[in-house]
Amino acid sequence: MQTITITGGQTLRGTIRPAAAKNSVLPLLAATLLCSGPCCLRSAPELSDVDTSLALLQAVGAKTVRHGPDLCTLPVSAQELCGEIPAPLAGAMRSSVFYLAPLLCRTGAVRLPLPGGCRLGPRPVDIHLAGLAAMGARVELEGDAVTLRRFGPLQGVDFTLRLPSVGATMTLIMAACCAMGTTVLRGVACEPEVCDLVHFLRSCGAQITGEGTPVLVVQGRRALGGVTYQPMPDRIAASTYGAAVAAAGGQITVTDCAPAYYRAFLQFLQECGVEIFWQEQAATLYRDPTVPLRGGRHLYANAWPAFATDTAPLAAAVLLQAEGASEIYDHLFANRFACAAGFAAMGAACTVRGRMLQIAGSAHLEAAEVQAPDLRGGAALLVAALAAEGTTILRDPGHIRRGYADLPAELAGLGAQCAVQRQRVPG
Ligand code: EPZ
Repeated sequence: MQTITITGGQTLRGTIRPAAAKNSVLPLLAATLLCSGPCCLRSAPELSDVDTSLALLQAVGAKTVRHGPDLCTLPVSAQELCGEIPAPLAGAMRSSVFYLAPLLCRTGAVRLPLPGGCRLGPRPVDIHLAGLAAMGARVELEGDAVTLRRFGPLQGVDFTLRLPSVGATMTLIMAACCAMGTTVLRGVACEPEVCDLVHFLRSCGAQITGEGTPVLVVQGRRALGGVTYQPMPDRIAASTYGAAVAAAGGQITVTDCAPAYYRAFLQFLQECGVEIFWQEQAATLYRDPTVPLRGGRHLYANAWPAFATDTAPLAAAVLLQAEGASEIYDHLFANRFACAAGFAAMGAACTVRGRMLQIAGSAHLEAAEVQAPDLRGGAALLVAALAAEGTTILRDPGHIRRGYADLPAELAGLGAQCAVQRQRVPG
């Protein structure tokens, strides 16, 4: 059993570069199934969700190779692929849903036990299914699994998403690439990771316009070849480093990640009193640890370009010690703030009211034994522990490994006292 120990009170200093974005790499790996040539994703991070994706690709008959930091997939014929997604892999991550469209297109039928992932509240897949049904797929829901079949090619449609789901937008872009004729997708997500999927598919030969706007137009059935592609940097990891220096104090430079990708988070840190020097591809952040942070913030997490939901727990970790009461409302997920129990164990006064987290501020944080409830909540507890007196023990760090290759080592590289401990289980 592993834990992370964090001894607070060390200021951070140094330069750090975020890895390629998990939320790009995972859909891109699924999209490689549509390509008739080899695909290489440069510098793909070694995350447990990436490992799960590779296991899933292999389970459905795809061929994958790691060349050092790059992840490559080799083309396979439709006969070599199967559309049966094993339940343990589907249940291990939400991103198993990205395999619905490519496997339906390639094999004619796909069965997905309903996907797992962070328990952030209800996470239905109705928009994915409604869009695929509109393109002609037959959808059968049976128990905890969904089976999709097509009889002939999918058909291009004019489809409006009932809300701008990131995952459903990605599913429908992939399906539209295989559909006959033109597909118009309205009310789509505009997140940078959606744009990254479009850029990847376009490099493979797809004809797609409108990324970054609410309307996407896809001309289907273009031959998709292979490509070597550098996925975008991880803007949530970049925000995590920013939160860490805000909590602990010090000066760091985050390189190779355009501040425009996480502008809302940087602006929030600035409002709290962190000094930020913005460049095109880097940001330098400075916080004097002897000067209290400014609280009194009212944040509203929502779809891009608003404040990102994945950064809401990180913002909370920063605001615990800031002067003045703050509130964070998450419009997207009902259970975003499961980390509040850990914050409270460290001595913070904070209360979850529905989708809102209320933070009294001015907390003197003290070390505690806390549990990572989910990926970003776990990272937020680690950030809070950097500012706590004494040595915090963070249990269940496996959640954090789903999205950060080695966050404790990265923070230790910046001067934090933070390490992974392997504990013996008695007996
Ligand atoms: C992606 O999840 C990210 N995951 C999440 O990051 C991120 O929090 C989220 O987008 C929002 O930015 C990946 O990219 C792998 P959604 P996704 O579909 O695609 C509802 C992290 O920590 N909805 O945009 O699942 C849904 O319940 C993870 O890295 C439906 O109702 O998010 C939610 O309330 C956590 N029906 C809202 O939409 C659907 O069919 C937004 O979800 C689909 C979604």
